[in-house]
Amino acid sequence: MKNLKDQVVIVTGGAAGIGGAITTVLTQRGASVVAVDINEAAGKEKVQENPDKIAFLKGDVSKESVAKEAVKMAVSKFGKLNGLVNNAHASKQKPLIDLTEEDWSLSFGTGFNATLHFMKAAYPELKKSKGSVVNFGSGAALNGQEGQASYAAAKEAIRGLSRVAANEWGKDKIRVNVVCPLALTEGVAKWKESSTVQYNQVAGQIPLSHFGNPQKDIAPVVAFLLSDDSQYMTGQTLMADGGDIKLR
Ligand SMILES: NC(=O)c1ccc[n+]([C@@H]2O[C@H](COP(=O)([O-])OP(=O)(O)OC[C@H]3O[C@@H](n4cnc5c(N)ncnc54)[C@H](O)[C@@H]3O)[C@@H](O)[C@H]2O)c1
Repeated sequence: MKNLKDQVVIVTGGAAGIGGAITTVLTQRGASVVAVDINEAAGKEKVQENPDKIAFLKGDVSKESVAKEAVKMAVSKFGKLNGLVNNAHASKQKPLIDLTEEDWSLSFGTGFNATLHFMKAAYPELKKSKGSVVNFGSGAALNGQEGQASYAAAKEAIRGLSRVAANEWGKDKIRVNVVCPLALTEGVAKWKESSTVQYNQVAGQIPLSHFGNPQKDIAPVVAFLLSDDSQYMTGQTLMADGGDIKLR
């Protein structure tokens, strides 16, 4: 399938995990990708997968300068920007009473602020290309999962921002949607080890009865939202979670 032929997309956290799978799938469908990540080793490895179509920018997404640099790189290397995927997000899991200022800054810096900075930096180019933004929410935020206060608050702030941007940028033909994934990445595998009870509870409740595969189950949903196949969709939250949560 080549439904993203000649598109240029920035993927934050695009070197590993779900973001790494998104980078792979988008390039398989004909797009070029600027993958932004703090993990330099994983980034360099990702580029080797398709050196003509993947560029790597090492950077911390919580810094506004990194967002500006990523957009510059997309334009200088590939000539334009059609899509932005705000996937990276780091946070600490603790009871909310124990979360420190630093913990809150980590989650809002890498989650909410990064999403906002990348959207602002990408806006002029996305306006030219009538592009698409895909932001990341979470079922843990929708459910108010214990131990996830700083994460859940930042994720729901991202969904609020996305709905406003969908309304404000609709006239520019820029679409903004949110994906809430559920996937067995390395991060989730670690969580499975440290919180086995919670993990088994979540896995047992999924109607399709397994955690998603990032490449087969999550990245194609992102590709759909970046493509013209979803040209009449904006401001939506799509659950790619095996049917775990039914949003209304
Ligand atoms: N995995 C799941 O089941 C699940 C569930 C709900 C939501 N999500 C969301 O999906 C997205 C991807 O999740 P994941 O499990 O692949 O995450 P992950 O932690 O496995 O990987 C994220 C990638 O982002 C990079 N990264 C982390 N902090 C960064 C920073 N400050 N600057 C640049 N890059 C940074 C990491 O190096 C890594 O390559 C996140 O927004 C996450 O909250 C995931």
